[in-house]
Amino acid sequence: MNERYENLLTTFTLPNGVELKNRLVMAPMTHYSSNVDGTVTDAEIKYYSRRSSGVSMVITACTHVTPNGQGFHGQFASHSDEFIPSLKRVATAIKEQGAKAVLQIYHGGKMSPPELVPNGVIVSASDVPAVSGGEEGKIPKPLTESEAEEIIEAYGEATRRAIQAGYDGVEIHGANGYLIQQFFSGHSNRRDDRFGGSLEKRMAFPLAVVDKVKSVVEKHGDASFIVGYRFSPEEPEEKGITMGDTLTLVDALAEKGLDYLHVSLGEFFSTARRGVEDLSKTRIEYLLEKINERVPLIGVGSIYSAEDARNAFATGIPLLALGRELIIDPDWVQKVASGKEDEIVTKIDKEKQEELVVPDPLWNKIVNIPGWFPGI
Ligand SMILES: Cc1cc2nc3c(=O)[nH]c(=O)nc-3n(C[C@H](O)[C@H](O)[C@H](O)COP(=O)(O)O)c2cc1C
Repeated sequence: MNERYENLLTTFTLPNGVELKNRLVMAPMTHYSSNVDGTVTDAEIKYYSRRSSGVSMVITACTHVTPNGQGFHGQFASHSDEFIPSLKRVATAIKEQGAKAVLQIYHGGKMSPPELVPNGVIVSASDVPAVSGGEEGKIPKPLTESEAEEIIEAYGEATRRAIQAGYDGVEIHGANGYLIQQFFSGHSNRRDDRFGGSLEKRMAFPLAVVDKVKSVVEKHGDASFIVGYRFSPEEPEEKGITMGDTLTLVDALAEKGLDYLHVSLGEFFSTARRGVEDLSKTRIEYLLEKINERVPLIGVGSIYSAEDARNAFATGIPLLALGRELIIDPDWVQKVASGKEDEIVTKIDKEKQEELVVPDPLWNKIVNIPGWFPGI
């Protein structure tokens, strides 16, 4: 191994005592390829197997914790005990290759396509529609307090299923505009009950999900079960989440006894948009400063080469996630480990679907969405 990159491959111990074999984890990525009944397909199992021997931990694609939380066609489900065998197949495939398996649990909220949810009724914190590609979606039904509580309960139930299916942990998906973020956002949340009205109250739903998940782990799991939380730092809308809001949330999350926080970013070195004093400082710098080593942070975003990873790691961040990079080159980590970092592929090769072991629906999206993956 080239000693420039040695640090990336050192072990790391999470707050709960679990040792990760290196600092590189696989970012959660939806694969759109599950059966219509919500169970996983063989193609998805092969996709995970191919990517689980280099990284220390694989965070799965998001899985919906209630039927009305499904956000994508071909998503795998975690909302009933019937899915435990299906969930177990993914955990086993990942663990057999030597990585920790972490299930990402989520609810799409207003981002769910109406045709995927019961009776076409999409739900959110308030009746503010999602906007996608400049077009407004259907107006979501605001959840009543007791419905919101049922969904909090469902995150707990999905956690119990993850434990029973043999996962090493769960990641609470509080990022990318889905339900948990909709509750935290001043744009999406216009409530005036205990789940909204002030920044503190907008944190109530996310923090209640964390408490529920932690209590289920105490009851059904053991101390080695990992609980992480993912968040998006900012939203573009006028009343949307600012970097300042996120630092307040992160401050509260850092006191929750989580095993890691995971920021969702397209660019690791992106700077804050608003809500903090110095807009030339990166979001990662602000986050590391606020967290102050109370909990490990996972960084992510366009870390294509070993040198990119080295530069990111130099910020002092303990863990890095690789997403598209591991679709483009499943041997990314092994190449660094064997001193062949110059051979890492950084652009998708359109001819190599089979070799890269990518299921058809995911592949079709990758090659048909310009600019999403380098090389397309
Ligand atoms: C195909 C694809 C699917 C994704 N699905 C999810 C998901 O299910 N959950 C999530 O939190 N992020 C998801 N993301 C975002 C990634 O986790 C990651 O933050 C993003 O791709 C930037 O990292 P990268 O530059 O390493 O790819 C997805 C990204 C891609 C490319």
